[in-house]
Amino acid sequence: MRYLAAIVLVCGWSALSAQTPGLVNTLMPEPAHVTAARGTLPLTNAFSVQVARFDSPRLEGAIRRALRRLSMQAGLTLAPAPAATPATLTITVAGAGEAVQSIGEDESYDLEVTPQGATLTSRTVVGAMRGLTTLTQLIQTGGDGYFLPAVHIEDAPRFRWRGLMIDSGRHFEPVAVILRTLDGMAAVKLNVFHWHLTEDQGFRIESKVFPKLTGMGSNGQFYTQAQAREVVAYARARGIRVVPEFDMPAHSTSWLVGYPELGSAPGPFAISPAFGVRDGTLDPTRDSTYQFIDKFIGEMAAIFPDPYMHIGGDESNGKEWRANPRIAAFMRAHHFATTAELQTYFNQRLAPILAKHGKKMVGWDEVLNPALPKNVVVESWRGVKSLAQGAALGYQGILAAPYYLDHMETAGTMYLADPIPAGTSMPPAEQKLVLGGEVCMWGELVDAGTIDSRMWPRSAAIAERFWSPASVTDVNDMYRRLTVESTRLEALGLTHRTHEAAALRQLAGSSDIGALQVFASVLAPLNLGQRQRQQHATPFTPFDRLGDAVRPDPAARRELDAAIQAFIAAPTAAGAAALKARFQQWTAAVPEVERQMDASPLLALARPRAEQLPALAQAGEQAADFIQQGTDAPAGWQQQQLDLISAAEKPQTLVRFTFLPELRKLVQAVPAH
Ligand code: ACM
Repeated sequence: MRYLAAIVLVCGWSALSAQTPGLVNTLMPEPAHVTAARGTLPLTNAFSVQVARFDSPRLEGAIRRALRRLSMQAGLTLAPAPAATPATLTITVAGAGEAVQSIGEDESYDLEVTPQGATLTSRTVVGAMRGLTTLTQLIQTGGDGYFLPAVHIEDAPRFRWRGLMIDSGRHFEPVAVILRTLDGMAAVKLNVFHWHLTEDQGFRIESKVFPKLTGMGSNGQFYTQAQAREVVAYARARGIRVVPEFDMPAHSTSWLVGYPELGSAPGPFAISPAFGVRDGTLDPTRDSTYQFIDKFIGEMAAIFPDPYMHIGGDESNGKEWRANPRIAAFMRAHHFATTAELQTYFNQRLAPILAKHGKKMVGWDEVLNPALPKNVVVESWRGVKSLAQGAALGYQGILAAPYYLDHMETAGTMYLADPIPAGTSMPPAEQKLVLGGEVCMWGELVDAGTIDSRMWPRSAAIAERFWSPASVTDVNDMYRRLTVESTRLEALGLTHRTHEAAALRQLAGSSDIGALQVFASVLAPLNLGQRQRQQHATPFTPFDRLGDAVRPDPAARRELDAAIQAFIAAPTAAGAAALKARFQQWTAAVPEVERQMDASPLLALARPRAEQLPALAQAGEQAADFIQQGTDAPAGWQQQQLDLISAAEKPQTLVRFTFLPELRKLVQAVPAH
């Protein structure tokens, strides 16, 4: 069978003859084995594809998407035409792979590029998708047209479960957001979309059996079953599983609004406008609760074909259970000393319901209890400890704790957090139970406008942690490749970079945002806890502040950190001048930022940061001078600067400075009396 691609040479490139440039590796995630070779395969309008063995609409869709990327990135006009022999790219896939993708799906591939052509070989269509993604990341230019460098790649993932979770419960995210997230996930070889669909703030998936779930529990913001099926199909087309989460027995207020009889308190219930741990909890003592869940799970199982279903299980505070005399009596009758034991009873009753509908249970780490069947998968959100505890008890696990995007950690920090850390005391047999990890995008503080900038490009760094060999840990090299990947992700339609400038223009009420961009380059958002203490956001809070515009891990932080570290190690005059130029640029931006703040009450909320910046910049300038000249600072100078830095570290105004730790080191490096 043959895949018809493109061979018509409309206007050929001049031959890329003399050059033999090597591979410039911008691959992300880094493949398991890369061997660079000599020579290049020029990309021309004559690029053609042959599918040598197994073919299917799913494979052809993946090839079409890859060709579109190739066409866009290399400026190729690829028109349908009779297939060429031999083709530029020959794809040999052994078979379709699993009808419903499981954790066992073979995602490996082999990609060979020579000056004569490229071959992609895989056992499954998903493996071919992974290889096609790598192929499009190989595109290089020597200034004279585009080419693929000669290379041999043998690749397979380190972990089978490489997830990204979106919480559509606390803030509803439109289908368009979900679809473009799936595009981003496929681009970095993530393979599980974990969809958190129910929360205290909203029930987001249509039930035809229980229409009041969304009818009364969603404020009208929910996915229809047709939309959910569209998401599942879109994900499958990209080799991504969809694992839905229906959080039980807590985080379930939205269930109770329409069906108060499920609750552990008398009700009535209303959608909770407050985030955090709420009291609303399903009643685990009534058979009618399980009959309801059985029907609901049965309905959902028909929409979500994945073998796994997530039942949440987190943060059940047991308050309503203890307060309800009937439930308290039930606990006594069953000799349950704690509400955690009652929750285990609840999970024990859920397990056969899930099994009946062909599903295995995933739950947050509170579900961990040896009384549960051994096919339960534990998702560890409170730390790596429960992952190890679960493995010791024989449970498979997924690590989420280090990958909470709302903690606003840098890509570098999250990158180094490994589901199986080097030097782990876990025995090899237990390490095998660690299926992988998940990036978690909780929904308290994101909407369709801001969510991409919180997810990307940081999720790409975590994706590499899940896919690449454990030995791939060079943070600087990760950032070098991440910068390139970020631009590729942008080409897919993700708004992680364009959002900041658009939001700054909105805030300033002006297109003239040069000064504001300098200011924004030294700022990052507060993390969830810090921000909630400042603002107490609800589902109705608009995300239109400076803290929503700025990015979690701006490039300027790394550049400055590197410049300061290099200068402290070797305090040259040129190094001092370069540092001082940066600090002076900040100071120079402040008057214009303050003028725009005068005209914009929303922007003015961040005024304290604008007021703090010049003194911090001055501390940096003076430190650079003292260090470079080798002169002692005047008595008290150092302490004064450290006090300034400490004051600037206090969370306020929804934004924080990114450079304070490095500035502190610079000030401390000044020779003292
Ligand atoms: C969680 O963060 N409550 C799973």
